[in-house]
Amino acid sequence: MNEIVYVDGAYVERGEARVSVFDRGFLFADGIYEVCAVLDGKLVDNDAHLARLDRSLREIDLPSPLSREKIVAMQRELVARNALREGLIYMQVTRGVADRDFAFPENATPTFVAFAQAKRIIGSPQAEAGVAAISVPDLRWARRDIKSIALLAQVLAKQQARKAGAAEAFMVENGIVTEGASSSAFIVTKSQEIVTRPLSSALLPGCTRQAILALARERRMTIVERAFTIEEACEAAECFFTSATAFVMPVVSLDGKKIGQGRPGEATRRLRELYIEAARASAQ
Ligand code: PDD
Repeated sequence: MNEIVYVDGAYVERGEARVSVFDRGFLFADGIYEVCAVLDGKLVDNDAHLARLDRSLREIDLPSPLSREKIVAMQRELVARNALREGLIYMQVTRGVADRDFAFPENATPTFVAFAQAKRIIGSPQAEAGVAAISVPDLRWARRDIKSIALLAQVLAKQQARKAGAAEAFMVENGIVTEGASSSAFIVTKSQEIVTRPLSSALLPGCTRQAILALARERRMTIVERAFTIEEACEAAECFFTSATAFVMPVVSLDGKKIGQGRPGEATRRLRELYIEAARASAQ
C-alpha cells in the first residue's frame, strides 16, 4: 500500500517520489494540507475537505495549482492505483521551490503532492474499547483555522501522549480545551448535552465535527457550542474526539482519570454509528 504517489502531475513509485530541498514547505512550512477518509474505495466528506483546502490556500495567498475537478480525478486515481479500500488520501500544497527568502518568491510554481495510506477506520479495536487522552499546553500559532503543515507543536503533543500510553492530546489554552492535536474535542454532559468549542481562529474547523453536529441536530440531540475545561471533561458523562481518520473516537480516560464508566458511552456509540452510516451512504 501507499506505493504510488502523486507529485506535481506525475504518478510515481514511492521510492521515486521526491521534492526539492529548496521547497518552501521544507524550509518554512509554507504550505497547507488536507486529509480525507476512504471507505469502500470511495472518498468520505470530500466536498467539505476540498472546500477547506481552497480556504486554506486562499488564507495563505496561494493560488490553487489544480482545479477542483482535477483534484478529485487525482484522488480517485490514487485510490485506484493503490487499490485502496479503507484508509485516507493525504494532499499537501506548498509555495514551491525558490531561493531561501522569507517573503513570497516572484514566480515559484506551487508543489502539489498526494498519497494514499491504508488504515482500519471502521473495525478499529480502539473505537470498541475507547482510548486514553492527556492534556498539554497549546503551543501553536494564532491561525489554527488554517490547516497549516507547521505541525511541530502537535508532533510534540502526540509524542507526549504516546509516552503516557494515550492516543490523543487535548490542547489547553487559558484553561480551556482548544481541540485535540489532530482532532476536534467533545464532551457529553450528565444532562446529555453534546458540547464542543465554537469555531474561531483558535481551532481548525473540523469537517467531521461539522458532519457530526448536523447528524446530532437531525436526531434532535442537544448541542451546545461552548468552551470546556479539562476538569469538566473529567467529570463529564462521556468524552470523544472526531477526525477524518478516526471518525468518532471514545475517550475513556483523561490525564489518568476515568471518564464516566471508563468505557465508551451511549451517545458516543450512537454518533459513531450514525457517522459511519452517513459516510457509507454519501461517499463518492
Ligand atoms: N487532522 N483539529 C486538528 C488540529 C486536526 O489536525 C484535525 C484533523 C481535526 C479534525 O478535522 P477533520 O474532521 O476535518 O479531519 C481537528 C487530520 C486527520 C490529520 O492531520 O491527519
